[in-house]
Amino acid sequence: MPGSQQNGCQQNGGGSRVWPENVGIIAMDIYFPTTYVEQTNLEEFNGVSKGKYTVGLGQKRMAFCNDREDIASICLTVTDRLFKKYQISPKDIGFMMIGTETIVDKSKSVKTVLMDLFKDSGNTDIEGVHATNACYGGTASLFHAIDWIESSSWDGRYALVIAGDIAVYASGPARPTGGVGAVAMLVGPNAAVIFDRRVRSTYMANVYDFYKPDLTSEYPYVDGPLSNQCYLQALDQCYNLYFDKVNRAHVNCPAANEPGKKARSVQLENFDGILFHAPYCKLVQKSVARMYLLNSLRKKAQDPDSLPSQLEKYKNIKLEESYNDRDLEKVLLTLSGDIFNQRTDPSLMLAREIGNMYTASLYSCLISYLLSDKIENLANKRILLFSYGSGLAASMFSARISGDTSDNSALSRLVKGVSDIPQRLEQRTSVAAAQFEETLNLREKTHSLAPYTPTGDVSQLSAGTYYLTDVSQKHHRAYSKA
Ligand code: ACO
Repeated sequence: MPGSQQNGCQQNGGGSRVWPENVGIIAMDIYFPTTYVEQTNLEEFNGVSKGKYTVGLGQKRMAFCNDREDIASICLTVTDRLFKKYQISPKDIGFMMIGTETIVDKSKSVKTVLMDLFKDSGNTDIEGVHATNACYGGTASLFHAIDWIESSSWDGRYALVIAGDIAVYASGPARPTGGVGAVAMLVGPNAAVIFDRRVRSTYMANVYDFYKPDLTSEYPYVDGPLSNQCYLQALDQCYNLYFDKVNRAHVNCPAANEPGKKARSVQLENFDGILFHAPYCKLVQKSVARMYLLNSLRKKAQDPDSLPSQLEKYKNIKLEESYNDRDLEKVLLTLSGDIFNQRTDPSLMLAREIGNMYTASLYSCLISYLLSDKIENLANKRILLFSYGSGLAASMFSARISGDTSDNSALSRLVKGVSDIPQRLEQRTSVAAAQFEETLNLREKTHSLAPYTPTGDVSQLSAGTYYLTDVSQKHHRAYSKA
């Protein structure tokens, strides 16, 4: 990567290092398989009413892979491509974490498999392993990467975060909300997407909405309606805590307010992009509606007359009793329509095309957002992000897109780096729903077998894709590259 290591690491008068500035994402890429199934075909094949998956869930296509790909192979592919695309030297990485819930080994982390990509460089001094908590592991890894860069342990090198999953469900209502993908992110100072400090909010609780107790199966145990409710509950908690924190930080920041004037409060409208973990796009639309309610109630606390007349009868609503109120949901979906269309819908392109990628989902939304407009319009945009992982762990945090759009800027390199994605989506192959089912049956039967030689077709893999060639009697996994 040109202009690498000591970027943003300021020296004070005595020559010792001070806090690095503008820490965030410098480079990104996404890997998704070349095969997908149309949700309309799946509706027909599964004999459900037309529109159930496409309108009811808001999904268009779902990516899937055969037994040639596993969590290590998709992470190898995306990391190798990131290195090549952005000319990153493996020597410049000092920290790497993988967020995933696609576990093939209870002890050996996926990160150790990725160390093969560093062999030639001789760099074995890389902190970090992997993080698992349903769809939250990518965010946990990103937070750790940012924290490493901002800590006394930082040695000036970059951090790398990979979030990837193979999201497959047993046949039934959850199956159309699957998908496959991995996102790689290079983290460091002087970034293109810069994270705000001191304002992350987190909500964690012990629930059984979605979990994977059976290690011989790739499928989760899932209580769909409970998982939707937990998602919205976590959103309520993270939202109010985030805005409490951000307003406290804002009020305490003298530069943000003119002397003698009342501090302006930070509200939902201050964000140009509102991005979510996207299990399926309809839930995201409902989450924006929910945020509209939370925002309105906060504003009402400051100014009782500000509540929209349509919400008058809900002004004393108890949040915890409102998750299944269909009338309220309908009103909120209408009131929040413009916010959803302008600030969230542009981030859902990959989620509609690929489906849920669990840990990678939120970060695929960030890529979609970066693809949604010209660089001049992206500059200085403010983004709010909500990450949810069942079980449960959730966080809300925020970022700002850099204002430097010059040719060699981090933003310009990042925007260029992701620009091939629409074409890659176009080049994929649509596969019949029956073949999709067969492929999932193959994965189901062969998952965790040893010894095992995968049988899936490798001819559809794009150049540079890593794939599984063998699982030995002792469960050693061997890979090759297409
Ligand atoms: N045309 C239009 N809409 C339709 C049609 C149709 N023909 N048929 C049904 N719908 C609508 C329903 O009205 C419903 O809308 P609503 O959500 O506004 O009520 C929606 O489609 C879904 O249909 P349901 O019958 O309510 O639900 P279903 O039994 O299909 O299950 C669910 C949906 C729960 C999301 C399931 O797919 C699931 O369990 N997915 C995995 C869990 C999940 O993703 N949870 C989210 C957070 S946790 C995580 O990230 C994994």
